[in-house]
Amino acid sequence: MAVTTDSASVIDQVRAYWNRRPCNVRHSTSPVGSKEYFDEVEARKYFVEPHIPKFADFERWRGKKVLEIGCGIGTDSINFARAGADVTVVDLSDESLQLCETRFDVYGLKAHFYLGDAEELSKVVPVEKYDLIYSFGVIHHTPRPERVMEQVKLYCKPETEIRLMLYSKWSWKVLWIILAYGKGAIWRSDELVREYSEAQTGSPVTYYYSFRGVRWLLRDYDVVDVHKDHIFPYRIDKYVKYEYQWVWYFRWLPTPWFAWLERRLGWHTLITARPRSASTA
Ligand SMILES: C[S@@+](CC[C@H](N)C(=O)[O-])C[C@H]1O[C@@H](n2cnc3c(N)ncnc32)[C@H](O)[C@@H]1O
Repeated sequence: MAVTTDSASVIDQVRAYWNRRPCNVRHSTSPVGSKEYFDEVEARKYFVEPHIPKFADFERWRGKKVLEIGCGIGTDSINFARAGADVTVVDLSDESLQLCETRFDVYGLKAHFYLGDAEELSKVVPVEKYDLIYSFGVIHHTPRPERVMEQVKLYCKPETEIRLMLYSKWSWKVLWIILAYGKGAIWRSDELVREYSEAQTGSPVTYYYSFRGVRWLLRDYDVVDVHKDHIFPYRIDKYVKYEYQWVWYFRWLPTPWFAWLERRLGWHTLITARPRSASTA
């Protein structure tokens, strides 16, 4: 577990980490903040993670209120707004939120922006009821995920849908990290996953969940669907140069077999949940 010191200092480390290099900030080589830059960030993100638009289902939220927790530089946020949703975003990292705001300016779109810690969401974002509460790849990076889930209840009405992505424990990625960086030292897996889960090494907090762990974290919610997706198939040395070549061992795998493997060992656990009626009282 990451939380060996007090949580206040850990959250500071988390903020500093994402400020140093906001998520996906190097997805383009164009001038940061330009339209070309944001277009390229989006194209690369959805090219390598094509399951995201399907999971977010942007069009479905036209005219609805969407709260995104941990918006990063706003790739999904802007797509909710483009689809016609009334978007509210929050992020811990000021560098990330600033880029997200710039992105909305560049495309002439509007959202409500809040800077702060989702573990204390109600101190940061005015409490209102939302149709969708969306958080992709965020809650596993905060020291106390259960606090976020507790806070989320305040923003739920009975019909609210919650869509989350949490990292998967039983995944190709975890196996690969343990083998490639830990030489098989499975007992060091928590530390290894923290170190190597992201493009930038040394994430202060990265949890990863079995389906059972997901159900425990969401024990006060009704989990409607939980499944895995996403194995990153590209050679890293090529990928960092914006070239896309599959690693040899996946290259010859028929597409349906690769998709089958993603369902079993994908790195992204995609969760759809609803509040229990008691939580929204
Ligand atoms: C991997 S990035 C994901 C960003 C975005 N959801 C995406 O998919 O591009 C994780 C984000 O979560 C944010 N984050 C981590 N802990 C947080 C917390 N306690 N409250 C709010 N945001 C947090 C980080 O600042 C970072 O922007």
